[in-house]
Amino acid sequence: MHHRQVRPFRSYRVFPATLCLLFAGLFPASAQQPVLELDLASPGHPVSPVLYGLMTEEINHSYDGGLYAELVRNRTFQDHPREPEYWSLIQEGGAAAAMELDRHHAINPALPVCLKLSVTRTGTRTGIANTGYWGIPVRPSTAYRGSFYAKCSAPGASVKVSLESPDGKTVYASAKTGPLTGGWAQYHFSLTTMTGAAATADARLVITVGAPGDYWFNLVSLFPPTFQGRPNGNRIDIMEMLQAMHPSFLRFPGGNYLEGNKFSERFPWRETLGPLETRPGHPSCWGYRSTDGMGLLEYLEWCEDLHMEPVLAVFAGYTLNRDYLTGPFLKPFVTDALHEIQYVTGDTTTPWGARRARDGHPQPFPLHYVEIGNEDGFDASGSYETRFVQFYDAIKAQYPDLRIISTVGGRDGLGGRFPMTVRTPYAYDEHYYRSAWQMESDAAHYDDYPRSGPRIFVGEWATREGSPTTDFNAALGDAAWMTGMERNSDVVVMASYAPLFVNVNPGGMQWKSDLIGYDALTSYGSPSYYAQCMFSSYLGNRVVPVTGSSIPTQTKPAGTKDRAGSAEPDTIPAMFYVATRDTASGRVYLKVVNVQGKAQPVRIVFRGNARIAPEGRSIVLQAGGPDETNTIQQPKAIVPVTAKETGLKKAFTRVFPPYSITVLEIGASR
Ligand code: AHR
Repeated sequence: MHHRQVRPFRSYRVFPATLCLLFAGLFPASAQQPVLELDLASPGHPVSPVLYGLMTEEINHSYDGGLYAELVRNRTFQDHPREPEYWSLIQEGGAAAAMELDRHHAINPALPVCLKLSVTRTGTRTGIANTGYWGIPVRPSTAYRGSFYAKCSAPGASVKVSLESPDGKTVYASAKTGPLTGGWAQYHFSLTTMTGAAATADARLVITVGAPGDYWFNLVSLFPPTFQGRPNGNRIDIMEMLQAMHPSFLRFPGGNYLEGNKFSERFPWRETLGPLETRPGHPSCWGYRSTDGMGLLEYLEWCEDLHMEPVLAVFAGYTLNRDYLTGPFLKPFVTDALHEIQYVTGDTTTPWGARRARDGHPQPFPLHYVEIGNEDGFDASGSYETRFVQFYDAIKAQYPDLRIISTVGGRDGLGGRFPMTVRTPYAYDEHYYRSAWQMESDAAHYDDYPRSGPRIFVGEWATREGSPTTDFNAALGDAAWMTGMERNSDVVVMASYAPLFVNVNPGGMQWKSDLIGYDALTSYGSPSYYAQCMFSSYLGNRVVPVTGSSIPTQTKPAGTKDRAGSAEPDTIPAMFYVATRDTASGRVYLKVVNVQGKAQPVRIVFRGNARIAPEGRSIVLQAGGPDETNTIQQPKAIVPVTAKETGLKKAFTRVFPPYSITVLEIGASR
């Protein structure tokens, strides 16, 4: 249940910019009218150049069935111990065949299980089919590249591969490969779909064989075109959505996924390297096995592709089921982290730099941030500080310039449970998952934060309203919270929303309220996604001090849950704002969040000598109500609208639409 007031302007789906100015004339300046005074004469602190970034982990099918473009599900037959999940038998026209998992024909230790297909009669068609991650997507005139390992008891048999509809009646593309031999070999094929075929998320990959006998298959893989054509790469649509967020860093590989429930489930970075046939994959904490197709190098290449700084989280000897290691028992994990850092940054004369070169990337990656663990405030034993010190000292001894982030020790929340006194981290990672009311009531959280001591990395945060992706109320809470982080970006130097992704198919989600949703074929952004895009795309390099007066308020509705351990006031602001300035161009970005269900006229006044350009731009994200949202069926119900703004001067009135997030881009002489 949302608590917003009834919206009076029901007839306007989008409140146009012209109306904002028109209505401005109807709302003369009055003592009650909110005023925002922007002080251009006294520039505020610099805005952190890495303020907005991304946080990622394998959750909600973020990679397998998400960003990682592999289309075959359970490609190495290890998803289930007894069943070849997502695979089915094709037996047509009198065929007789059976299939089973087979552990007697390992290709190597990473590929211990294969699929055995035993064909007694081929009929008109015999083989196996894979349904992908909730369907295999097919687009017209598109080239797919695939491969599999196979051998057979009837050497010389050829194999046909096709992309087809679930009933087999429509064949989008097919190819022949083989002949197979009695020993394991890898076979490659390409499938190009027909021109004019309708795009569908509901195809399957079929492999049929031409003669009776026993056949063994492993590592069956199929890729569509990938972002920038990278082999083993990422989905183009999702990468383009991320690009539009202008992220400055990527925090990986977790989150809980870094730690795992037990030691054997932690992110095994070494085993995620090299050719796919040497990656065993691993069981992870989010309820499904990871292929590790998205391995350490792929994370780094993802950073490279989107020009993001890697924020490398290293396993800190603590697991989700609260097991931890200290002292000499932790030492191998410290060494492991040093090797991992060397893999990222070492030149090719170092052992792990040489390994990276062998993996195809001789150039070291830039690395400035390393985080030790994840959410170690849950470790009630208080062992984190000693573990942190072990990592910190070892890393600093070899890499004195690296900025080491602690998951514990800030003033607030879980991280604040255990003060860090022995070493000074570069930043504390604080996490916030809240309702819109909680976000809005705490938007000024960092206004009085100590300016000395470590900075803050808000490494995970989100307003959790809406499912699978967030609704507009969440976007309002997010935007209110972002005004506070941006205003305090001398302290909050980095922030990343979580979780980033969700596969919206039934069973795809483990964590509700996510930023970007998708199925096999298409993807869409939640209103929160667009709020993020707006905040990071329109950002100056200095904060402009803003004094607000007569700011409207909202009252806590009955039954509202306060944040744990804190009693929220009954009355809080209903409008939030922040301004930054690009000192090179003079341009000012004023962000205003109006969470009320009514239009809000605001007097905007510039102090200082700057001349204000009469024309500017507005970017407005607006909804008819807090429950409105985007979905996979209606992906663009709520999107930002850009419009020209006129009549701008040193003092003017602007009406902010009901339920809206606005960026005003205003030219100001330097
Ligand atoms: O974002 C989902 C989870 O929330 C993360 O894995 C964990 O760090 C946090 O508790």
